[in-house]
Amino acid sequence: MLENSKKEVSENELLKQNEYIRKVHSIVASSPKQKKFYSLAMGCQMNAHDSEKICSMLLKMGYTQTFSENDADFIIYNTCCIRENAEDKVYGKLGYLKHLKRQNPDLLIALCGCMMQENHVIDKIKTSYRHADIIFGTFNLHKLPELIYNRMESGDMIIDVWEEHGEIVEDTSYKREYPFKASVNIMYGCNNFCSYCIVPYVRGRERSREKEDILNEIRGLVKDGVKEVCLLGQNVNSYGKTLSTPVTFAQLLKDINEIEGLERIRFMTSHPKDLSDELIEAMKTLDKVCPYLHLPVQSGSTRVLEKMNRHYTKESYIALVEKIRKAIPDIMLSTDIMVGFPGETEEDFQDTLDVVRKCGYSTAFTFIYSRRRGTPADVMDCQIDEKTAHDRFDRLLEVLNSGIHEIHSKLLGTTVNVLVEEVSRQDEDIVSGRSEHNSLVHFKGDSSLIGKTVPVKITENKTFYLMGERI
Ligand code: 5AD
Ligand code: SF4
Repeated sequence: MLENSKKEVSENELLKQNEYIRKVHSIVASSPKQKKFYSLAMGCQMNAHDSEKICSMLLKMGYTQTFSENDADFIIYNTCCIRENAEDKVYGKLGYLKHLKRQNPDLLIALCGCMMQENHVIDKIKTSYRHADIIFGTFNLHKLPELIYNRMESGDMIIDVWEEHGEIVEDTSYKREYPFKASVNIMYGCNNFCSYCIVPYVRGRERSREKEDILNEIRGLVKDGVKEVCLLGQNVNSYGKTLSTPVTFAQLLKDINEIEGLERIRFMTSHPKDLSDELIEAMKTLDKVCPYLHLPVQSGSTRVLEKMNRHYTKESYIALVEKIRKAIPDIMLSTDIMVGFPGETEEDFQDTLDVVRKCGYSTAFTFIYSRRRGTPADVMDCQIDEKTAHDRFDRLLEVLNSGIHEIHSKLLGTTVNVLVEEVSRQDEDIVSGRSEHNSLVHFKGDSSLIGKTVPVKITENKTFYLMGERI
């Protein structure tokens, strides 16, 4: 019963938005000149996936896509607020848009995404960036057609930011960047409240999509030519816990693995505090699940990890990595690492370097801690000065890069399967794609290989990518 009513909310909302799509479409179609939109995703994979949905709605409303802001009639920035520089970038761009809007007063500017969930940002836009037309947040993306229509009708700035999520709206007809691979949301929000992180405040509490909805979406994608899916969630390990019929993430993987025609399953992110043995077993046994795991460590110091509210220690993280490697010897690991967390000492930082040396990552996303208003870390004592943080960051990269080189050396002479993505921009005789381990591989080939999975023997290790020969 409960499930039915949730479905009804979702279906009714979609019907309502389809009505607005038709209304906006007739306005856009009556314009003497073809209306174009420019869309920019400024954040993580989740943000990029939301932008795919945005683009799809705009196409349905009759706009065509342009990749130049200068000739757009509708500009939409999907913002990120995870670090201060992401926010600064938005303000910088908004300054430029003021000038564009002076040249083209009919230009519509929309801002959405995580940054719009922060009250101080909305206040700043209302006072200093009055040329923005439509502002909405992370919980009501599906309402874009209605918001555009209201803006077109009223001429007023529209601000519609929800404090918390409503029912999940199941709109799965989005435009993908690649025809052969797709991102699929399996859950939204985060309950972890790492002390430095703004995500739980702007993306709300954890909620999972129904397993059947996810399976149906992936079946549809596969029918459409998709070979690889990447399952997205802030912490996929807690997938399904709050569903009316609880499901584990490993069970979800098993069911997805059964989908005929699908070749590869990836997922991110897995929190080290609750990665289950059941998941390790599933990764080991399910043939479509790739031998690649993104396992953010953040810091190697148990003292710092505790202040970060991460719920694991240096030793337990290393033990987890050892356990995973024992079960899946060819696995490649990637991570997120931060330096300069409040109170981080040289000794703490040395622990981070130690973990990096011991764990051997094939990729890493590295960050300098950035103070986020409203998070517990923002009011902690002993904020680290910029010079020290930068110095640590540089030293971290040195250790990481030599580890990446070393781990990639293990692939020399082996044959990997590459899902070819594109022809190289530098050399039209070279194509590139990702191995099952998510490593970037270049080899001789042409555009007919795009979207195909081909065996490639690795011949050269260039640290951040590999060269190979098709066999
Ligand atoms: N400062 C720097 N990096 C951060 N991250 C999250 N919050 C912050 C912050 N305040 C990083 C974490 C996370 C990744 C998505 O972004 O490493 O895993
Ligand atoms: Fe942020 Fe931690 Fe949640 Fe990741 S798990 S989104 S770092 S609070």
